[in-house]
Amino acid sequence: MKEQLAKIKSEALSAFEAVQSKADLDALRVKYLGKKGELTAVLKQMGKLTPAERPAMGQLANEVRAALEGALESAAGKLEATALEHRLKAEAVDVTVPGKPVTVGHRHPMYIALDEMKEIFIGMGFTVLDGPEVELAELNFDRLNAEEGHPSRDWSDTFYFDREERVMLRSQTSPMQVRAMDSMELPIRIIAPGRVYRKDEVDATHSPMFHQVEGMVIDKGVTMADLKGTLNTVVERMYGKGTKTRFRPHHFPFTEPSCEVDVQCYKCGGVGCPTCKGEGWIELLGAGMIHPRVLEMAGIDPEVWSGWAFGFGLERTAMRRFKIDDLRLIFENDVRFLEQF
Ligand code: PHE
Repeated sequence: MKEQLAKIKSEALSAFEAVQSKADLDALRVKYLGKKGELTAVLKQMGKLTPAERPAMGQLANEVRAALEGALESAAGKLEATALEHRLKAEAVDVTVPGKPVTVGHRHPMYIALDEMKEIFIGMGFTVLDGPEVELAELNFDRLNAEEGHPSRDWSDTFYFDREERVMLRSQTSPMQVRAMDSMELPIRIIAPGRVYRKDEVDATHSPMFHQVEGMVIDKGVTMADLKGTLNTVVERMYGKGTKTRFRPHHFPFTEPSCEVDVQCYKCGGVGCPTCKGEGWIELLGAGMIHPRVLEMAGIDPEVWSGWAFGFGLERTAMRRFKIDDLRLIFENDVRFLEQF
């Protein structure tokens, strides 16, 4: 029996020593220390011993059990340590590996130009408004003195949502004049940038969707001289001191008198070239003194108050600002183009 115990002990110890996995270790535990294990099998033979032999053999058996349990525990500890080591190795991050480059975009050139323009107007005390692109024809036309039958109301020019021609995609930002008059206290100084829609074919200067920046001032004693001074200041701030403008008489139903404002061509400096179609000038906006009827329709007394309004073409403004000669480049979103600004 003594030899049996010694054999179990030496076998078990070397097995525990060599074990490679948790599952194997478990199997060994059952094999040597389990209820039906080898050690228990030997102990069951204790009954065959003489009472004199029993104590010494019992003590030996306990020593073997203690040795086995100790070896089991240290084997388990060893397995855990190697598992941890493996995990740390697998999860290691090499901070010296170069990272993937993150490409950061930037604002679209048209929005850079818009932000510059907003800054200038905010500095002059204007408030920036935002308004709906789906607009009532009443605000886009009627309240702006463009009555039934006005050519711009035609189906061939305007995107309507209904046969009654009551709801439409705004064809200009000018309905924001009406919205401001209806909702704000006088005096008013606002700009309202946004998208507008017209049934135009795409070419180098046209697009069915483009942007305008509406502007309006209503106060006591406001004159055309204030309009010219303000617009000249904005143009010089955006395009540099000494940039020349040209005010040409024009017609809009909601302003009287009305004008169009051109800025000197950036390519030829006014001589005439393909960019300005030989004109020497590039048209930037429409403007004028607000028609007394428009003020009256908004409940504003034109004998007391006067005002002016303007509508910049934002794409043209940006094209002049960054010397871009084809409108399509603004909308195509070709990064090779956009990266240049
Ligand atoms: N809404 C006009 C257009 O789209 C521009 C404009 C705005 C003219 C304000 C006068 C006053 O052409």
